[in-house]
Amino acid sequence: MGGQLAFFDGGPAPPAPAEDLRPPAPEAVTPGQQSLWPGLADDRPGRLTDLARRAGDCRACSLREGCRGVVFGEGDPSARLVLVGEGPGRLEDEEGRPFVGPAGQLLDRILAAAGFLRREVYITNVVMCRPPANRVPQPDEVAACLPWLRDKLAVIRPRIVLCLGALAAQTLLEPGLSITRARGRWHEREGVLFMATFHPAAVLRDPGKKRPVWEDFSQIRSRYLAVAGD
Ligand code: URA
Repeated sequence: MGGQLAFFDGGPAPPAPAEDLRPPAPEAVTPGQQSLWPGLADDRPGRLTDLARRAGDCRACSLREGCRGVVFGEGDPSARLVLVGEGPGRLEDEEGRPFVGPAGQLLDRILAAAGFLRREVYITNVVMCRPPANRVPQPDEVAACLPWLRDKLAVIRPRIVLCLGALAAQTLLEPGLSITRARGRWHEREGVLFMATFHPAAVLRDPGKKRPVWEDFSQIRSRYLAVAGD
């Protein structure tokens, strides 16, 4: 995959998927369509939709007052890989979708170069509401949003979680952790594999971070393929 590093340098970005990637609205089930084995049905889409609806009413911290709305996350409710960023920026707040601004466009290129479709993973953030002037979320804001992130992970049950940047890594792995030292290493928590890498916005600021990020995504891809058949 080494030759794919060109994607970082503004090579043609893969076309953005046209479809709406938000969790689907629950469908009305008519009696004849009901599952004979409801206990065995995979209700992750429905549970995630329900969680998103409740999160939309969250006022647990003051961030909600200063933004347009909650950016819950998007992707496959049964994704094996979940990516967790920091928090929505201006464009994410406007569109109600994570990672759609410049950092998101770079993330799209990295994902495509590594062999992932954006719609096959799940993308979310530590905080769901845009902090004023894109400042780093405060500890009380992170704490207020953490139950939502935990619930998302509990519903999706991914095999791998990739922390994009220091805040996600410090929130999900270890407070005070150094992203430079921790990136690229596997951590296991309750049967789930975690890795941290530099945030795409940090790669935009410092092109020297491209290669380590690429190496981290290469590891993620190999492990993803290894768990794909499980
Ligand atoms: N940066 C993030 O951490 N998350 C987004 O959704 C966009 C930019």
